[in-house]
Amino acid sequence: MTEIRNIVVLTGAGVSAESGVPTFRAADGLWEGHRVEDVATPQAFRRDPALVQQFYDARRAFLAKVEPNAAHLALARLDAAWPGEFLLVTQNVDDLHERAGSQRLLHMHGELKRALCTGCGAAPAWLDALEDGPPCPNCQAAALRPDIVWFGEMPYHMAEIEEALAACDLFVSIGTSGAVYPAAGFVDVARRAGAATLELNLDPSAGTSMFDTARHGPAGILVPAWVDGLLASIKA
Ligand code: OAD
Repeated sequence: MTEIRNIVVLTGAGVSAESGVPTFRAADGLWEGHRVEDVATPQAFRRDPALVQQFYDARRAFLAKVEPNAAHLALARLDAAWPGEFLLVTQNVDDLHERAGSQRLLHMHGELKRALCTGCGAAPAWLDALEDGPPCPNCQAAALRPDIVWFGEMPYHMAEIEEALAACDLFVSIGTSGAVYPAAGFVDVARRAGAATLELNLDPSAGTSMFDTARHGPAGILVPAWVDGLLASIKA
């Protein structure tokens, strides 16, 4: 086996499921009861800004009720201990990875705890509601929207992510259905770069056959076990 030095981990909603954050596509998931087109597109925001702000205001407020779980904590442990390059790319807009202690982390779909000013482009940290149209701390315009990447918009940090994928020896996908691109295509980019690939998910994702290895079960069990094995291998 090639020696592993550089690791890229991709996480999705499944990594936060055991913290009580709903996933998107489960029967009782976040998109159940909401049409994606009503709350997660720029057109929806233009059509009914109050509805969209309420949807994300509620999700932002809900973050106060949840805590990182064993999977978030294990990934933070790996980040702190791993001597090679390490990058955690999350599709999640919650803040559970950073609250667990992850440092080498990119939010490719934005963050609930950040606002985006459609006037001046500032992206201030934001903990309160946006529905009442508070002024942007930079330009004072009442033009703040959630700093969330909606369908039809370009995910963040793509150049940095693609560079890390091209240089990684191991790509691990955790808790994501593989339904949304470009994240669903990362496994293919990593494979072409010669990396080993591992899926850790509750059940087989849409792209499961593209992974060298797939383990299915709850992230709170699978992720700590994988991290412990990897860290033991560098001490051996
Ligand atoms: P999904 O809801 O599509 O998929 C969640 C995945 O996590 C599923 O494959 C579940 O089987 C798995 N899962 C559920 N509970 C789990 C657990 N305890 N342990 C491990 N896996 C578990 O969510 P994402 O793949 O993250 O984008 O969705 C991708 C993107 O689609 C989101 O970032 C969001 C959404 O539309 C935007 O809003 C831009």
